[in-house]
Amino acid sequence: MVIIDAARIHSHFVTHFGHAPQLIVRAPGRVNLIGEHTDYNAGFVLPAAIDRATFIAASPRTDRRVCVFAADLNESDEFAIDQIERSGLRPWSNYIRGMVRALQAAGHVIDGADMVVSSSVPRGAGLSSSAALEVATGYVFQLFYNLNILGEELALMAQATENTFVGVNCGIMDQFIVTLGKANHALLIDCRDLSYQEVPMPTKAAVVICDSHIERSLAASAYNQRRAECEHAVELLKPVIPGIKALRDVSSTQLEQHGHLLSAVVLQRARHVVSENERVIASVQALSQGDIAEFGRLMNASHASLRDDYAVSIPEMDALVAAAQRVSGCYGSRLTGAGFGGCTVSLVDTDAVERFRHEVAAAYLASTGKSATIYVTHAADGVSRIRPDSA
Ligand code: GLA
Repeated sequence: MVIIDAARIHSHFVTHFGHAPQLIVRAPGRVNLIGEHTDYNAGFVLPAAIDRATFIAASPRTDRRVCVFAADLNESDEFAIDQIERSGLRPWSNYIRGMVRALQAAGHVIDGADMVVSSSVPRGAGLSSSAALEVATGYVFQLFYNLNILGEELALMAQATENTFVGVNCGIMDQFIVTLGKANHALLIDCRDLSYQEVPMPTKAAVVICDSHIERSLAASAYNQRRAECEHAVELLKPVIPGIKALRDVSSTQLEQHGHLLSAVVLQRARHVVSENERVIASVQALSQGDIAEFGRLMNASHASLRDDYAVSIPEMDALVAAAQRVSGCYGSRLTGAGFGGCTVSLVDTDAVERFRHEVAAAYLASTGKSATIYVTHAADGVSRIRPDSA
């Protein structure tokens, strides 16, 4: 798939700009295996980069301008790097504009670029197509202008772009895994200090993504509300658990002891985050012992917690998860990403994948009248340069 996409984008570039690109960069989408809504609580996440990716073919320019062609949309955009503003007309360009601005704000000296963008990460499905575009853009400039940037720094610049330029108040998970993902591994990321550990993916089970095709319409407002509720919980718990800075610092036992200080809703939100952090750590332990069944059980528990305590699921997602959990050979299933639509992630015995596809698609159609797109994914590397000979 990588080779086909690289070849296609190479030829798009030649058609559009009349010469060959100097390089092609690939940045993957991501799926989060477990650890949902924990990143902005300074907690733990366990995502993997996937084999769907955003590609940018590019050549440098010397006139301080960036010219971009979005091949999938058949749209172009152009801007001066010394005066970058948000584009109302081309919203997709804001990820690129914001990233070019963030690089300069961090003190990096750059010039312009010609770029063609194309992606196999579905947009709006909760698989981080925007993080892939931000990180790919940053990496193009890093390579062109020999910028000394660590992966962690690139991820933070991409997150800052999202937070302050695009206007989405996300955590660090997506940009981090898109930058630092490792083939055949998930990453256990500590979102407080950004330390991370590579966790080998089980070989006997496949990671299957089911796209519900439900647009995540409520996602932005509910996301900000959940963040505020978590911060409120910390404020209320501070007097009784001195020194806490985030829900990451609270254990289940402490929450049980002091939960009466919180309103019913805030207690539910806190209970999800606290238990989810514990589930991530237990998941890594289960995987290290080869206990896939236990990992699957933790995924199911994560979904129940997201549905009942964090209230970020919707009936269609619950139907998709329930359909998956019923298939024999499915270890576990849960919604992945912010919620309110998007995708589920399931861990399925490699021998049961075909049965899973048929049974889940049929059950989802029967209960919602909608078709799901189902695909098996493999943990992929984070952002990288593609060798010219594969283009
Ligand atoms: C979105 C955000 C992430 C994370 C997840 C929920 O994907 O971009 O930072 O908060 O939701 O786990």
